[in-house]
Amino acid sequence: MKISVIGAGYVGLVTGASLAKIGHHVTCLDVNEEKIEVLNKGRSPIYEPDLEALIQQNMKARTLSFTTDFEIACQQAEIIIIAVGTPSNQDGSADLTAIKDVSEKIGAHIHHPGTIILTKSTVPVGTNQKVKSWLHTYSFSADHFMIASNPEFLREGSAIHDTFNGDRIVIGSENEEAARKLEEMFAPFGVPILHTSIESAEMIKYSSNAFLATKISFINEIANLCEKLGANVEDVARGMGMDQRIGSAFLQAGIGYGGSCFPKDTNALVQIAGEMEHEFELLESVIKVNAKQQVKLVQMAKDHVKDLKGKRAGILGLSFKPNTDDIREAASIEMIKLLVEEGVQMTVYDPVAQDNAKSLLGDTVTFADNCFDAIEDQDMLFIVTEWEEFKVLRLKTISKLMDLPLVFDGRNCFALEEAIDANIDYYSIGRPAVTQFSNSKKNV
Ligand code: NAD
Ligand code: UGA
Repeated sequence: MKISVIGAGYVGLVTGASLAKIGHHVTCLDVNEEKIEVLNKGRSPIYEPDLEALIQQNMKARTLSFTTDFEIACQQAEIIIIAVGTPSNQDGSADLTAIKDVSEKIGAHIHHPGTIILTKSTVPVGTNQKVKSWLHTYSFSADHFMIASNPEFLREGSAIHDTFNGDRIVIGSENEEAARKLEEMFAPFGVPILHTSIESAEMIKYSSNAFLATKISFINEIANLCEKLGANVEDVARGMGMDQRIGSAFLQAGIGYGGSCFPKDTNALVQIAGEMEHEFELLESVIKVNAKQQVKLVQMAKDHVKDLKGKRAGILGLSFKPNTDDIREAASIEMIKLLVEEGVQMTVYDPVAQDNAKSLLGDTVTFADNCFDAIEDQDMLFIVTEWEEFKVLRLKTISKLMDLPLVFDGRNCFALEEAIDANIDYYSIGRPAVTQFSNSKKNV
């Protein structure tokens, strides 16, 4: 099929390249000329495992191309997928400016009778009906299109894998012909397909993200209690997860959820509920718990170091999770801002997110070239993102490099036995503190 994807970001690019891989002819459009220039050279503008290779492979096969021109993108497309961003407005609601803009442009450019306009961006319930009216704004061929909703469930860092191994593909439609054609388009992925109304599809997306965020805030609250009660949250999560009704996924305690979606989508769902005069108290608490959890390591440092002013700290990890360069709503950013206010001098390191972070953090911190430079001679170390290259470090090595062996691990990267063995002070999430170094000094 001939498909166009509007918006060549994390979702649009992965979708476009994956649809090309299963045999479709795909054109990706973006308003950002620089991005399209990079893509036309066969390079990926974002860090996402396997994406660049997939782009190159499909460009070579001539099944994937890039443009900034709506005329080209809409000319022959049978299906046009909207994958532009829906960021948060000041009040937490979803900003639909880009959706409106591209809908109007698509409406003005589509030629084919029966073109399907499929919204993949995460949008509040009712938005697809707005898309329909925006498509009409400059369209001379009002009856020429059908709308449908196809929420996306991929995760950054494993986006290609998720696309080919998803748990479900949701198609929300109001028209049998569109539903059938979309099912045909997705069939080669071999992923189970669920057909619903457009409104239910829109709601499935927000409910799924809100539920996953709830699981994370729940386990983080349990972790906070475990610290007070002397229990170990990892054992607790394992024990809970063995109950199939609960499941083991998304029970990893840490410094909260970040990224471009959970924070934005939970806030948007609270707004959506508010508009219906429904107070979504559970989700409001989930958001509140997460805000506290994201800066938990700063509080831990304040509790354990008398005066932070002038202290030197290493920060390992800036991205909101491993295997991505995305720093949107990453815990690292707020944490670093608070530590700067406390007068801490920081050296930070992330394998791929440093360029993105530089524009936000400027010269308030020093950027290291490798993780060892961020650890060496520090008074304390904060582990913020669980990149594999940090997890394979040994705490004994870290301890030798540091001035004072004090580690605050926000992602539970190391076993407590290793911390005891390394003779360091090691504070993690929801597990007993290891104060081996302080104790050995007291005993001297
Ligand atoms: P993104 O910011 O990475 O990409 C959006 C792209 O759209 C950008 O390249 C931008 O230049 C382009 N764009 C913006 N306005 C445009 C316009 N008027 N015309 C043409 N192009 C325009 O965003 P993303 O992370 O890919 O997310 C896109 C949507 O998918 C959002 O609604 C998001 O909530 C949802 N989503 C994201 C993920 C994820 O993991 N990132 C997963 C599921 C769903
Ligand atoms: C999430 C969802 O998992 C995807 O299904 C969804 O499509 C996407 O949001 C979206 O709508 O954009 P993503 O944000 O890429 O994907 O990454 P996740 O793996 O879900 O992690 C999100 C955050 O939660 C990260 O900060 C991660 O560190 C944190 N997390 C995750 C935990 O703290 N504990 C866990 O057990 C799992």
